[in-house]
Amino acid sequence: MTKGAPASPVPDIAEGFRAAMRGVASTVTIVTAGDSARHHGMTATAVMPVSMDPPSLAIAINRKTLLYDILMSARGFCVNILDKGQESVSTAFSGALPGSERFSRGEWAYTATGLGYLRDAQASIFCSRAAALPYGTHSLFIGEVTDIARGDGLSPLLYLNAAYCQPLPRSNHN
Ligand SMILES: Cc1cc2nc3c(=O)[nH]c(=O)nc-3n(C[C@H](O)[C@H](O)[C@H](O)COP(=O)(O)O)c2cc1C
Repeated sequence: MTKGAPASPVPDIAEGFRAAMRGVASTVTIVTAGDSARHHGMTATAVMPVSMDPPSLAIAINRKTLLYDILMSARGFCVNILDKGQESVSTAFSGALPGSERFSRGEWAYTATGLGYLRDAQASIFCSRAAALPYGTHSLFIGEVTDIARGDGLSPLLYLNAAYCQPLPRSNHN
């Protein structure tokens, strides 16, 4: 429900939506996945917790991407929550580097099944693929959490207004 009139009328819904979403600060992650033939990773901020029982999350992936294609046949995926110092990893995994070179940026390790995870991420959340729901340009993939690796830090890389930033510690004085 809105209180009074909107601040300014929105002539084009898609542009208005884009502009409004630019004002939402999101935590930057790298989602990795592989199938029998391929392994890939991509920067994603459309990540949200879904349920605590079972512990699960959702990622929204554009169906034009290679990762989408792989996720359709993958058994699972890993969501690596980036630390504030890992902007160059995000840049590499969002198109600055071709897929074959991306894992040279950052300290990657691999599970027994070959799934890449970032050693010094704030956290790496391993999921088995529980469901896929196509909607519009994207598909939502629901992952059931199977394992977690966590570092000590709690200072994630954020994305706001098409730029990288980091959280400011809250002042204790007010
Ligand atoms: C900060 C940031 C967040 C992004 N979040 C998403 C996302 O949640 N879902 C998505 O499909 N693409 C997202 N993208 C776009 C993909 O990372 C980008 O299109 C990537 O190049 C696609 O991978 P590909 O080159 O392997 O196809 C994001 C890009 C940036 C820079």
